[in-house]
Amino acid sequence: MNDRAIKTPVIYAAIKEKSEAINFSMPSDLQTGSLLRTLVASKPSGSFLEFGTGTGLSLSWIVDAMDESSNVISIDNNEDYISIARSYFTDDKRVIIICIDGNDWIKNNQDKRFDLIFADAWPGKYEALDETLALVKPGGFYVIDDMSSQSNWPAGHEDKVDRLVKYLDSRKDLSLTKLNWSTGLIIVTKINFA
Ligand SMILES: C[S@@+](CC[C@H](N)C(=O)[O-])C[C@H]1O[C@@H](n2cnc3c(N)ncnc32)[C@H](O)[C@@H]1O
Repeated sequence: MNDRAIKTPVIYAAIKEKSEAINFSMPSDLQTGSLLRTLVASKPSGSFLEFGTGTGLSLSWIVDAMDESSNVISIDNNEDYISIARSYFTDDKRVIIICIDGNDWIKNNQDKRFDLIFADAWPGKYEALDETLALVKPGGFYVIDDMSSQSNWPAGHEDKVDRLVKYLDSRKDLSLTKLNWSTGLIIVTKINFA
């Protein structure tokens, strides 16, 4: 099996080109995108949330799998990055891109619930984690990447990652699968009966 043979969303190449032109250095890889697309496709009429829009690369996989009655909110605090994303996602009823600090958004939106959250920024992952997990519907997914050790990690980051994994493992209302694939992925499901 060649797990790199992945068909990308139609707009992916154009966003990638724009991202490279501004030296955007933090894109999710193709495997992460492919996994997101598969999980999103499992939730018809779904509500999705992403922390860390960047230039819209991971968002392109999410939107690729969304049916007409699904919607996604994607959050980033960098206007330069999200101006690129905004130029590709023009259906602002289904794809809502918000420029705000992720922690502020989480604090002010505790009444919302989502079928899948992709947390690709510190808010929602290393910050405001409990408040973010509260936003996942029972049966919904919480997905994180960049969990496998990388040579460019700053001192202390490995400990942060270990603490995060240990904490997720300790929660009785969550079921985890850790994948040593891509950049190190964890798929979490909120257990229905917890
Ligand atoms: C790893 S990148 C996201 C990459 C994107 N998901 C992709 O696949 O191309 C992390 C993003 O988080 C954003 N970010 C960093 N701190 C943030 C904060 N406090 N609130 C919201 N976004 C933040 C950065 O601007 C950056 O675009």
